[in-house]
Amino acid sequence: MEIIRTVPWMKEKARLARAENHVIGFIPTLGALHEGHLSLIRRARAECSRVCASIFVNPTQFGPNEDLSKYPRTFESDVKKLESAGVDVLFAPDAKEIYPAGFGTYAEVESISNRLEGRSRPGHFRGVATVVLKLFNIVQPQFAYFGRKDAQQVRILQQMTGDLNLDVELVVCPIVREPDGLALSSRNVYLSADERRAATILHRALEAASQQAKTGVRDAAQIQQIVIRVLAEEKLSRVDYAEIVDAETFEPVTVIGARPVYVLLAVHLGKTRLIDNLLIEPAQDSGALKCSL
Ligand code: PAJ
Repeated sequence: MEIIRTVPWMKEKARLARAENHVIGFIPTLGALHEGHLSLIRRARAECSRVCASIFVNPTQFGPNEDLSKYPRTFESDVKKLESAGVDVLFAPDAKEIYPAGFGTYAEVESISNRLEGRSRPGHFRGVATVVLKLFNIVQPQFAYFGRKDAQQVRILQQMTGDLNLDVELVVCPIVREPDGLALSSRNVYLSADERRAATILHRALEAASQQAKTGVRDAAQIQQIVIRVLAEEKLSRVDYAEIVDAETFEPVTVIGARPVYVLLAVHLGKTRLIDNLLIEPAQDSGALKCSL
């Protein structure tokens, strides 16, 4: 695996690969890699002839009171994981390489960015959209792989690629979970032993929502109430939001059934904020609903 630190060399490498008719699959990350990240890489490895991952702890997507300086950095072990997953190129620039002095252009996806994660983390999606647009321009992938764990992020990036006519297809991959249901996240390492036990509450709340939908409940407010009640059982948790939204517009829905919806959760456990979601879609040809955790 080649490790590239500069923009010009990464662009040249991508240009050469495209000239040789390679299909480039790209997986952007913040590092501190786990099985969730590796699932995206394996999917890219199976579908593309060249696989590029990036590790860049992007300062513009962290708020002033967020965890930029203490975000876990595990570069050596990340490199080993990427190598054994068969990554061809790791792009790992430093902040000055991506945001040199005088940098002043940002990508902003309107409307969807101001709700939910965007409301709790002002400026977050502006930073995400900006860095992903830059990374797409540098790595020139035909396919880019993202996790459904960050459902709003993927939706915003899909909006951006459509609006700006980018030649990259986004591939959305399932959420990878621990055996007890907790979604894998680089931020799980912040949890104390008690908080780690309590953190399964997100999955348990989404399980309850899934059960309700499967038994025929279609009233979003009713399902939301049950989710909030389950979350309230865990005294260590503090709910930021628990909402049921249309999977495309991210606007709240009243009735579940006709179109795909997300049950979206953001929950604080001590100083750590975790997100998770459940996708509910109409099953083909029947009145039933398909629930994906
Ligand atoms: P990061 O949090 O490192 O996540 C990188 C990718 O891994 C994202 O697409 C995310 O959705 C996916 N991912 C994380 N946990 C997952 C899990 N448990 N199962 C499946 N996929 C999972 O998301 C970012 O970085 C940044 O915002 C980035 C897109 C790199 C821009 O800086």
